[in-house]
Formats: sequence, C-alpha cells, structure tokens
Amino acid sequence: MIRRSVLLGTGSALPERAVSNAELAKTVDTSDQWIVERTGIRNRHIAGEGETTGTLAILAARRALEAAGLEGKDIGLIVLATATPDQTFPATAAKVQHAIGANGGIAFDVAAVCSGFLYAIAVADSMLQSGMAQRALVIGAETMSRILDWEDRTTCVLFGDGAGAVVLESREVAEDGPGIIASRLHADGAHCDLLCVDGGPSSTGTVGHIRMRGPEVFKHAVVNLAGVLTEVLAAAGIEPKDVDWVVPHQANQRILDATARKFGLPPEKVVVTVDRHANTSAASVPLALDTAVRDGRIKPGDLLVLEAMGGGFTWGACVLRA
Ligand code: UT7
Repeated sequence: MIRRSVLLGTGSALPERAVSNAELAKTVDTSDQWIVERTGIRNRHIAGEGETTGTLAILAARRALEAAGLEGKDIGLIVLATATPDQTFPATAAKVQHAIGANGGIAFDVAAVCSGFLYAIAVADSMLQSGMAQRALVIGAETMSRILDWEDRTTCVLFGDGAGAVVLESREVAEDGPGIIASRLHADGAHCDLLCVDGGPSSTGTVGHIRMRGPEVFKHAVVNLAGVLTEVLAAAGIEPKDVDWVVPHQANQRILDATARKFGLPPEKVVVTVDRHANTSAASVPLALDTAVRDGRIKPGDLLVLEAMGGGFTWGACVLRA
C-alpha cells in the first residue's frame, strides 16, 4: 500500500456569454479563417457583469464537491491558481473558502499563469502527503478577458474565461491504485518578457494588459513540454503507450498536435477543448479534465497525463490514475 492524493471529483464553470470568431471579427481586424487555421479556436466564453474569477471558481468548486459527494466543511486546503484574481488581496481562494463553508483550513492563491493548475496540484499533493490536510480543493480560475488589449489582434482572439476544480483526498491505495503518481515543475525567468502583463500594483499601479511574442512562445512551448513530459513519465515509471488520456493546456491546436506526434500518442487520446474555450490560462487543464470526465471519456482507473506551459516561463506535468 502507498499513500496518494486521490481524485474524488471534478467540476467546472463558464461565463454565460459565448463569443464566436465571427462575432469578434466585427470589432477586431481578424477572421474566423485565420483564427481557426492558426489556433483551432472557434469559440470562447467572456465574463459579463457580476461574473468574476471568484464567482466562476465558487461554481466550479461546488460542482466538484457535488461530484465527490462532499461538502465545504470536509475541505481543509484550497489552492487556487489564477493570474486574474478578483482583487490584489485577499486571495481569491479565501473567498471560495468562505462561500463553500470550508472556514478554518488553509486557503491561498498561486500565480504561475497558464501552468498555474499544475503548480497548484503539485503544491496541494505535497501538503496532503505531508499531513497538513486530509482533503483539498484545487482550482484554476481566470477572467483573462479583463486583462486583454481588445485593440491587439495578436492576443485578444486567443483567450477566454472559465474555471475548473478538482477534489483530492489523501488515502492509502494499492501500488497500481488511483492517485497522483508524479509531478514535475519548472520555471525560467530569462524569458519573462516574451509573455507578460505590462502592469501591476508595484510597478505601474495599473492592472496592465497581456503582451505576447507568440511565435517565440510557441517554439519554447513545444521544447519545454516535450522535456517535462519525458521527465514525468520516467518519474512515474510509465511508457507513453500506457497513457489513456493526455489533458493538456489548451493554447493552440498546433501545439497539441506537435506534442502528441512527438510522443507517438494517437490524437484521439488528447483531450481538446481549445476550439470551445480558447486559452483560459490556469483554468484550461481542469476545464478540459472536467469536460472529459463528464462526457464519459475519462473513467476510473484511466492513466492521465496533465501538462501546461505559460508565462514566466513556467511549465509542468503530472501523472495520475483516475
Ligand atoms: O498559454 C501560454 C502559452 N501560449 C502559447 O503557447 C501561444 C503560442 N503561440 C501561438 O499559439 C501562435 O504563435 C499564435 C497563435 C499566437 C500566432 O500564430 P503564428 O502562426 O505564430 O502567427 P504570427 O504571429 O507569425 O503571425 C502571422 C501573421 C502576421 O502577419 P504578417 O506579418 O505575416 O503580415 C500577423 O500580423 O498573422 C497576423 N496576425 C493576424 N491576422 C489575423 C496576427 N494575429 C492575427 C489575427 N487575425 N488575430
């Protein structure tokens, strides 16, 4: 027997308003054809009045708790990944904690942008394994639309809003049983200018907008993801052929295809939601995970690989059995 953080339930939430490429093309100098060909994105959800990172996170958390058959009071740890918190402080995780009635435990945010969920799940796993808590809610939630420059067509067509959450519980399981088997994380601040926000409370006193040198980020993404996938599969002692589902960060269909090809994984094993959700940063992996759990693709016992790369640069991957 071995102690692992076991996945008990998943949940997600999207803003009500869906925006198609055609609708965007009415106000931005772009086209459905360009966006689909270069990214695979067809649609994204954009937060309206009253919808925030916090409200989406709370909805996703409640759905994950319901799926796990648990209540807020059962949760001792909340780790929320976001680059778009409701406020600079308090942590959005603290708002979630209060809303679901999990008061008294641990709650904090992590900032690793698009890799945020991978960072959050690794941190939560470590804390569960060290006995700091018994059950955790790990959330990725973003309202990227609030930091987009809607006059910059090279970025504003790429992102969307949403939230995803998972419930983890520390349990004794068999060696081939469920739970997180290995996680690997990396960062390299040398490239922080290639993907960043040009503002912040301590530098400009403004919120700022996303700036990205897309083609350069693309090249780093393919190399870094290949590296961390090789590393995490070796750490978990598994071969690519053993993987049932890859649940990747949803930035660009071409990155998903390139990564799958490199690992000899059939495209049918890659969960793709970039067409519907666009790039939702820290929310994209748990949103994709919840989508594939709820539509019946991911089943108990399946071996999953989660991976992401984003601003910082930061990147990471995680192997777990559902
Ligand atoms: O989530 C964090 C990680 N992020 C990523 O992984 C993003 C990685 N990068 C990418 O996904 C791609 O680089 C992009 C989708 C951002 C861009 O695709 P690309 O194939 O690298 O295009 P490009 O930036 O080289 O631009 C090609 C052309 C340019 O025009 P010229 O200079 O060739 O005349 C752009 O001005 O496409 C033009 N362009 C657009 N045209 C219509 C750029 N954005 C648009 C647009 N609509 N929205």
